[in-house]
Amino acid sequence: MSKFVRKKSGINNWGLFAGQDFKKGDKVIEYKGKKYTHKQVEEDDQFDNSKAIYLFTLNKKTVLDGDTKSNTAKYINHTCDPNCEVDIIKGKIWIIATQDIKKGDELSYDYGFGYDKDFRQFPCKCGSKNCCGYIVRDDQRWRINRKFAKTKQGRLKK
Ligand SMILES: C[S@@+](CC[C@H](N)C(=O)[O-])C[C@H]1O[C@@H](n2cnc3c(N)ncnc32)[C@H](O)[C@@H]1O
Ligand SMILES: [Zn+2]
Repeated sequence: MSKFVRKKSGINNWGLFAGQDFKKGDKVIEYKGKKYTHKQVEEDDQFDNSKAIYLFTLNKKTVLDGDTKSNTAKYINHTCDPNCEVDIIKGKIWIIATQDIKKGDELSYDYGFGYDKDFRQFPCKCGSKNCCGYIVRDDQRWRINRKFAKTKQGRLKK
């Protein structure tokens, strides 16, 4: 029995699903990748916007590029109501269960994107009740909600 199953997801293309039950606090899967320095990532054109989504800052020196074949965790989608979170433990990136997860559930975590001028580049299709419509991290979603509340009243056009 496999711990994970890669399947088509209702959120976006592929998703990663639990192949067994997980308990809250379990280390579900390691997010693996190739290590680069921040300088290499800034200077190398291969790390454009489409690739940036796979980059994780490990520490002041190192960035991990998860867009590799061996990194099964790269299929985990973002949701605004996730069942996992990301934690760095002893220099490794782990996806940790934040609640009990049943076999067959889609795994997800908050991608942690900040609210900035480019938020429209990443519409969120997670479908959860508290989805703000964009992939923006939990503590900044209120900015999106406020912006669109104003739009409805006709005060803000964009
Ligand atoms: C790390 S990949 C996740 C796996 C991806 N679904 C795939 O098939 O390769 C990140 C990409 O998945 C998509 N994605 C992840 N979460 C999403 C969401 N909640 N809503 C819409 N697209 C999402 C975005 O296109 C994002 O660039
Ligand atoms: Zn969402």
